[in-house]
Amino acid sequence: MTNKQERLQKVIAQSGVTSRRKAEKLIEEGKVKVNGKVVNQLGTKVIPDDKIEVNNIPLEKEKRVYYMLYKPRGVISSVKDEKGRKVVLDLLPNIDQRVYPIGRLDYDTSGIILLTNDGEFAQLLMHPSYEIDKVYVAKVKGIPTNDALKQLKKGVQADGERLKAVHAQLLSTDRTKNTAIIELTLHQGKNRQVRRMFEKIDFPVMKLKRERYSFLTLQGLQPGEFRELTPYEIKQLRHVATKGK
Ligand code: URA
Repeated sequence: MTNKQERLQKVIAQSGVTSRRKAEKLIEEGKVKVNGKVVNQLGTKVIPDDKIEVNNIPLEKEKRVYYMLYKPRGVISSVKDEKGRKVVLDLLPNIDQRVYPIGRLDYDTSGIILLTNDGEFAQLLMHPSYEIDKVYVAKVKGIPTNDALKQLKKGVQADGERLKAVHAQLLSTDRTKNTAIIELTLHQGKNRQVRRMFEKIDFPVMKLKRERYSFLTLQGLQPGEFRELTPYEIKQLRHVATKGK
């Protein structure tokens, strides 16, 4: 996010130099400079490119970090939950940086979710015009016909939005239990999109997992486990997100 403005005292506190309250005091005392000029106004906002100094010492930028988590079911994709439920950050203890999830998965959905403290990277991947494959495997009630799956590719109208799949494929069926397993690839990332799409064609989702995010799979991870992305994977994701743009 290039125009992401943050309050100066927040940025100072986040860098780990001091608490937010002490940062406010330092600002008021004229000990903070932004781009070489003393700033003593508390409301001041800064952008990531601004050069901040505290007591004439440049603020070190937080190291950018990138993780991939196998989110289990029963975990919220946010940084904290008012009701005290488990959140994805609880699964990444001992990380110094303040990371947050890129997009989200429902409480009851399992699978790949990326986390970072790099706002620009997160925006890039979430931008609706960038075509990143998100591959889901859904267990649904009932056995959709080919026509029903075609409907998902054509797009369904739900709550004023057109929800579309890039691919939809029947993987298996259980005729005794009257259920089916479907693989669905999306480029869009609307709220509860897979569940809403299947609801529209009358095959409610019973279980949902995100198996792939672009070229990243869950290989080697158990539910609840995470790993850092490699520099090559980060570069590739940037490339995939911007290709042809
Ligand atoms: N679609 C959904 O319905 N739920 C998710 O968690 C992700 C995609």
